[in-house]
Amino acid sequence: MDRIIIKGGNELRGIIPISGAKNAALPLMIASLLTSDTLTLENVPHLADVEQLVRILGNHGVDVAVNGRRENQDGSYARTIHFTCRTIADVTAPYELVSKMRASFWVIGPLLAREGQARVSLPGGCAIGTRPVDLFLESLKALGAEMEIDAGYVNARAPKGGLVGARYTFPKVSVGATHVMLMAASLANGTTVIGNAAREPEIVDLAKCLNAMGAKITGAGTSTITVEGVTSLAGARHRVMPDRIETGTYAMAVAMTGGDVEITETDPAFLETALEAIRRAGAEVTTTERGIRVRRNGGGISPVDVVTDPYPGFPTDMQAQFMGLMTRSSGVSHITETIFENRFMHVQELARLGAKITLNDRTARIEGVPRLKGAPVMATDLRASVSLVIAGLAAEGETTVSRVYHLDRGFERLEEKLTRCGAQVERVTD
Ligand code: EPZ
Repeated sequence: MDRIIIKGGNELRGIIPISGAKNAALPLMIASLLTSDTLTLENVPHLADVEQLVRILGNHGVDVAVNGRRENQDGSYARTIHFTCRTIADVTAPYELVSKMRASFWVIGPLLAREGQARVSLPGGCAIGTRPVDLFLESLKALGAEMEIDAGYVNARAPKGGLVGARYTFPKVSVGATHVMLMAASLANGTTVIGNAAREPEIVDLAKCLNAMGAKITGAGTSTITVEGVTSLAGARHRVMPDRIETGTYAMAVAMTGGDVEITETDPAFLETALEAIRRAGAEVTTTERGIRVRRNGGGISPVDVVTDPYPGFPTDMQAQFMGLMTRSSGVSHITETIFENRFMHVQELARLGAKITLNDRTARIEGVPRLKGAPVMATDLRASVSLVIAGLAAEGETTVSRVYHLDRGFERLEEKLTRCGAQVERVTD
């Protein structure tokens, strides 16, 4: 199993190119199930989750052709992948596959819309919270689907003439359930109005791609989305949006170590709340033609309180990284997690590096310390593991992060991107 060894203390200086967004690429790939034509996605990141979804889609009959990759001067590269699902080969998404990646549950939407039926395993447990699927079931029921849970599987069936457009308001904002509703309603009969929809930029990216495929979606990016159903969707070519979480993560890494980095091939508009928090922490963040420039030269890190919230609030997917940054602040900060009840697995690992954090229900109190000291630590989930990397970059001595497969799910070539900017980060395969 791979480990990452970090020798802390170096400032970051240089350029970090951002990859395509994992959380946009996954639903976009799933949308290929909606058409018998080819959906071509550009800027697909090379990540373990993407490879896993390729296997899952293959099981449903999606043929995947990778167009090689283009290496750019600044070290970035992008892949174009063609997805073609002439016919749905299997409407079952088995437990062995769905349990490995929750987002694969989302195939339920397109399978139901195109084939009229789906049998999808319930995803099971998760390290960051209970993560139920009730919102998916209720919203698809609103489109006329019959849902039954049997032996760990959701058996879903559309009415004879197909799903029927409806007005449905989510009782709670859900990114995944909004994605699924968009895909299912695109092929439903009549108009669907989704209330309290997620407003995340990845929702907008999916809606853009579906519209390029012939769907009629308006209002994506606001909390009310209208989908006029069409009888079929065609192929399209779409570029996956930049990864806003990766962008914010590297911005926090620079704020942590000090230095001067341009983060390129990204869009600051997608992460204003997080960038504002980084600014308040003492880093200078400016917009460039290609993305953002983050600098912290000499000044310390100020304590900043944040509360996670659905977009446009502070993202839960950057909570662990921000906590990593706050461990070195000059005072006391509080971080409240409102999305996932158990997303604090990094607290005990950060403590191994010398961080002073106490947890009270969903709020962490972080008392900044003047120095962290390297130690062996364990990655527990994707974002938690990168918070350990951020802390390790500023810690004295050596930090070894084990269970790196968590990082590989969502950060493309992390050690290479950091090394190019002067960090001492090395991957070791045992
Ligand atoms: C997406 O997960 C992201 N995953 C997550 O990123 C992200 O943390 C999350 O949105 C919130 O921003 C992908 O895009 C692949 P939700 P999702 O449904 O869609 C509850 C990462 O690190 N809920 O918006 O699964 C749920 O338990 C990952 O990249 C229900 O109660 O999240 C949570 O408390 C981790 N019932 C809240 O809603 C349901 O049926 C928001 O979850 C569905 C969700």
